[in-house]
Amino acid sequence: MPSLILGIESSCDETAVAVIKDGKTALSSVVSSQIEIHKKYGGVVPELASRKHVENIIPVLEKALSDAGVSLSEIEGISVTRGPGLVGCLMVGVSYLEVPLIGVDHLESHLAAIHLEYDVPFPFIGLVVSGGHTSLYLVNNHTDIKLLGKTRDDAAGEAFDKAAKLLGLSYPGGVEIDRLSKEGDPKAISFPRPFLTSSSFDFSFSGLKTALVYYLKKNPAPDGIRLKNICASYQEAIVETLVEKTLAATKLHEVRAVVIAGGVACNSRLRELAKDRFENEGISFYIPSPKYCTDNAAMVGALGFYKLREGDYSGLDLNPYSTSRPKYVRGRGLIAN
Ligand code: KG4
Ligand code: ZN
Repeated sequence: MPSLILGIESSCDETAVAVIKDGKTALSSVVSSQIEIHKKYGGVVPELASRKHVENIIPVLEKALSDAGVSLSEIEGISVTRGPGLVGCLMVGVSYLEVPLIGVDHLESHLAAIHLEYDVPFPFIGLVVSGGHTSLYLVNNHTDIKLLGKTRDDAAGEAFDKAAKLLGLSYPGGVEIDRLSKEGDPKAISFPRPFLTSSSFDFSFSGLKTALVYYLKKNPAPDGIRLKNICASYQEAIVETLVEKTLAATKLHEVRAVVIAGGVACNSRLRELAKDRFENEGISFYIPSPKYCTDNAAMVGALGFYKLREGDYSGLDLNPYSTSRPKYVRGRGLIAN
């Protein structure tokens, strides 16, 4: 009998449900995006997001079951995003069904997306780059995932989205910057790469954003090729920082494989530079298809399968959380964050 897990994702502005077979195959993956609602506010409005999740969850669930050709009675476990995220939104997923629940971490589930498409060798270094988080992990097996470092201020996605706002581009800005950068010169402007030489695995992107603010004060209202050059140079600073820090982690932890996941992993320059850089170093590099990089429930179901197999699940007392977990430092173990 195959194991069928239902995944539910509602931590931000996507209501998503998926049916996953044996932790590896997405029989269905339905994502209902609220992007059009939040676009006019230039970012996600939590109250609107929660309300929309409540409206969407039943039709999205029904479509996921019918796409997969299975009924609720065949489902072995329900994996829900437990955090971090908007708590009001998380409660929608957590409170929906009265069956045993597997609570999964949103960022860990972004990494689990890779198991839907590849057999990745363990251990690997995992980088999750999303709208709210930039986190680097040492992944020893499907469920033994240790945080090595994270952003001290803005996340990589935030760095893209805030820059897009400064440049008058639409939300979410990462996609627009990616598009405009294709015709720009990444060397046109030298933006800072502040933490590139530091030995810490934390990230900081707020200095980069400030550098852009100052640049725009001196060189206001860019358009045409000037705008494309700014986008390409700014994007290059983010992407290079992400790739070099991840590479440094592979060296310190003596790991020969890398996975990059999360919404920013859709970025075409990140995909290209990471592939070149890691392959040159003889490191195997894996990145999910774009549909499994942005928020989806297939990744939630995939991680849920492995947690259920280990007996790691909760009842209805599952509590959502909005912030992140302790981090792992080599030689020191887990430390509070
Ligand atoms: O993982 P995700 O879908 O949602 C969160 O968990 O936050 O990530 C959304 C983020 C947004 O900041 C968006 O601008 C960024 O992913 N993003 C991109 C691209 N596509 C989405 N950033 C850069 N280049 C892209 N092509
Ligand atoms: Zn996400």
